[in-house]
Amino acid sequence: MQSKFLLFIGPLFFLLGCAVNTVQSNNEIDLKVRQLLSEMTLEEKIGQMTQIDFSVVATELNSDNPVDQSKLEDAVLKHHVGSILNAPQTPHNQAQPVAVWRNILQSIQAVTARSRLKIPVIYGIDAIHGATYIKNSVLFPQAINMAATFNTDLSFKEGEITARELRVAGLQWNFSPVMDLGRQPLWPRLWETYGEDVYLASVMGTSYIKGHQGDDFSAPTKALTCLKHYVGYSFPINGKDRSPAWIGERMLREYFLPPFESAIKAGSPTIMVNSAEVDGIPGHANYQYLTTILRDELGFKGFTVSDWEDIKRLYTRDKLAANEKEAVKIAVMAGVDMSMVPFDYSFYHLLLELVNSGEVPSARIDEAVARILTVKYRAGLFDPPSPLLPEGENFSTAQATDINRQAARESIVLAKNDNHSLPLKKNANVLVVGPNANLLNVLNGGWTLTWQGDNESLYPKDKLTLFKAIQKKATGKVTYLENSVFDKQSALDVTKNVDVIVLSLGEKPYTETVGNIGSLNLETSQVKLANAMLATGKPVILIMTGGRPRIITEQAELASAVILGFLPGMEGGEAIADILYGDYNPNGKLPISYPRETNDIVLYDHKPIESYESNVYHPLYAFGHGLSYTSFETSNLKLASDNINRGDTIELSVVVKNTGLLTGKETVLVYLNDVAASVTRPSRQLKAFKKVELTPGQTQTLHFSLKPEDLSFIGVDLKRVIEPGKFKIMVGHETATFTLNKP
Ligand code: BGC
Repeated sequence: MQSKFLLFIGPLFFLLGCAVNTVQSNNEIDLKVRQLLSEMTLEEKIGQMTQIDFSVVATELNSDNPVDQSKLEDAVLKHHVGSILNAPQTPHNQAQPVAVWRNILQSIQAVTARSRLKIPVIYGIDAIHGATYIKNSVLFPQAINMAATFNTDLSFKEGEITARELRVAGLQWNFSPVMDLGRQPLWPRLWETYGEDVYLASVMGTSYIKGHQGDDFSAPTKALTCLKHYVGYSFPINGKDRSPAWIGERMLREYFLPPFESAIKAGSPTIMVNSAEVDGIPGHANYQYLTTILRDELGFKGFTVSDWEDIKRLYTRDKLAANEKEAVKIAVMAGVDMSMVPFDYSFYHLLLELVNSGEVPSARIDEAVARILTVKYRAGLFDPPSPLLPEGENFSTAQATDINRQAARESIVLAKNDNHSLPLKKNANVLVVGPNANLLNVLNGGWTLTWQGDNESLYPKDKLTLFKAIQKKATGKVTYLENSVFDKQSALDVTKNVDVIVLSLGEKPYTETVGNIGSLNLETSQVKLANAMLATGKPVILIMTGGRPRIITEQAELASAVILGFLPGMEGGEAIADILYGDYNPNGKLPISYPRETNDIVLYDHKPIESYESNVYHPLYAFGHGLSYTSFETSNLKLASDNINRGDTIELSVVVKNTGLLTGKETVLVYLNDVAASVTRPSRQLKAFKKVELTPGQTQTLHFSLKPEDLSFIGVDLKRVIEPGKFKIMVGHETATFTLNKP
């Protein structure tokens, strides 16, 4: 064991980065890390692997600098901690002004400067839709919405703006993006994902990383990302957060690994571990995932960090370990490099004992610490502190807010629009009703200003709820009904003088286990309200906001129009109003299959058997669905060749035309199907897409190149293979076939 780890460390330093000048600086970093490691005591090394919550070093009081100096000295000088996470204020972390963050980080820097080796602390934060914990930051649509934009440029810009705002506050490490796939709609973190599709999640996530990190994440406006939650976390069989997934190795390799693989290639240097378990093995104990696959196969060179208290939980929850010490040994030996302990120094003391007794080889410690130090060097944390980015031109700028508004608009899905009920006339008299109509928190969801995102009183006063945004835009009378109405007569009374009812339903904010539910059914009170409003005979525009697809089949059938808003962020109210009144032509498309019934969770890339005989893929709204106020037609799907050889790219083109009367954006989706293969293949899989804006009557020919790997799948022997034979390409209503020749 010992020699294996020693062998491992050598090449580690030479493999980071690929550009020639980067290799040079990586070699320098390699030397610095070796030198530093040789000077470190075991205690200092294990401290680097320890991450504590801010509360461990916090004062009880609210102040401009909520750091308790003696607790901080205990953490940094006595326990040598390598990392701190989270926002101040217990029991719930809460967004702080830029100035407070600067004070906190300066205090930490000042103490590390007094430490023996002056190793900087890396501060981690969940900035999952913008800088969550910095007051007045630009808070974007959540990931499920960003996926609905099918606009990688917007994802790139979200990454850019988030990193910039973090750096203004002095923060540099973001626990984002979530690369888990959203294939279980009950899971209360579905909305933190980029949806159900492998390709879409991969391209949206990698664009975000590139915007966030640039080519060099030590640059003054860039910051590190952390991929979550490796791997298989998002597919709990019972739909509850932190509960078991049973994912076979083929499924793992086919669906859940590829987004992580792409994100690693995009350069993310840190990974957070799956907080639950797959196939009976907790994420934090899974040597095969954390070492064999992550390191040996995927070539990840950065460091892994545990999720919240999850090493302890191998003992307290999973009963995998007989005590906490054994839990530490299992996790570290499986490949966890840093422990988010987070409330005490137990990990530090126990790991020290384990190394001193020879139960954990010191080479494994050197390996983990080398990875952490390498990332710290690459992030420029060892460099003399440079002046912080000035707030004025970098934080909450008008330009960033405009981009946010655009992201929100492109993320909203118009699912139904019978008889052109939308857009509304500005002079229509509108009744706005429903529990989600006049709150900002329902537009933002979890990880907004606080962990659960539910503290409405903390939300900025200048942002508009749906009701207020409608009120701002409309010239007709807009009334808002706060109290619910549950019977037809009362509904008739309150709607007597209105032309249209805007019914705003959905979910309250939540994340993690707090958001667990037993059914996707809408709350009974919402069903009653909807039915009463629908019974009036007035046109009802149903607007859903929230993190999951709640069942609306009967209500959607009767509604004149349906908008699926999910969690469009701080500009969401105005963005929905833009669409309601036709100030913006909707173009969002569903990144998930919206179920018709609670147990109807067949996904778009289902197997043939799932749409055979009486089985059917029949969601309420399919993956990729989304209407516009104009219409588009795709035609003339052409393949450059209907016969290709192994290694060839597949060139195809298709013509898209705006056949309606308004300018609009359309996303053209290219699907592939392997007609016959040795392992059953999905009926179709998204392989490429392009989003274009067209004026009325305008046509454009779009060209796509599919790579040879796009034809591959995980074969019988669990290795990726490409099998010769027939393939189908599907775009819109057209299909084209080609044959991959035998080698
Ligand atoms: C969540 C992670 C998060 C971490 C730190 C955990 O409970 O699962 O997604 O990054 O807390 O806040």
